[in-house]
Amino acid sequence: MDRDLSEIILSEEQIAQKVREAAAWLDERFKKESVPPLAVGVLKGCVFFFCDLVRAMQTPVQIEFMTASSYGNSSKSSGAPEIVTDLAASVQGRDVILIEDIVDSGYTLVRLKDLILGRGAKSFTAVTLFDKPARRKLPVRADFSCFEIGDEFIVGYGLDYAQQYRDLPYAGILKREIYEKNNA
Ligand code: IMP
Ligand code: MG
Repeated sequence: MDRDLSEIILSEEQIAQKVREAAAWLDERFKKESVPPLAVGVLKGCVFFFCDLVRAMQTPVQIEFMTASSYGNSSKSSGAPEIVTDLAASVQGRDVILIEDIVDSGYTLVRLKDLILGRGAKSFTAVTLFDKPARRKLPVRADFSCFEIGDEFIVGYGLDYAQQYRDLPYAGILKREIYEKNNA
């Protein structure tokens, strides 16, 4: 285990199992559509989840990415996420599957949902790896949440703290002293 983690909460095998469930759920949802949905990944946290999920799906999808502003080196949400890198494709008339690493305050999900539906997407489906319902500031839910967690700071399998730990193949709880010393 990485020395900065207090606990590993999800092994590679547990994540892989849930990714297969999420893929099956999406396949069921889109089985009648003739036009491939557009899978939109929110970088960088989604990266491994996104790749594993779209490859586990039977449904053909097209892929696109965007980047929303992050916390910087803090573990607190800024409240008004900005679009740092926008989509390269139009979402007009498309079934969009938004793939997120984590829904925390909900500000990012609300912002992206409004943006994508505002541009004329035919439908919007949000899938998240992690969900922290207790931390929500806006009343929003992902359509599929792989893992509900409490008010802890999670890293690994794409999730970072100050751009570190994304490359861990499992997910764990970051020791409080690591982020509290920077947020003091
Ligand atoms: P929001 O607060 O729902 O807008 O989430 C904003 C972003 O905060 C997420 O997409 C993550 O990048 C980041 N975030 C929130 N909680 C965690 C966490 O526990 N670990 C790593 N990143 C997090
Ligand atoms: Mg993120």
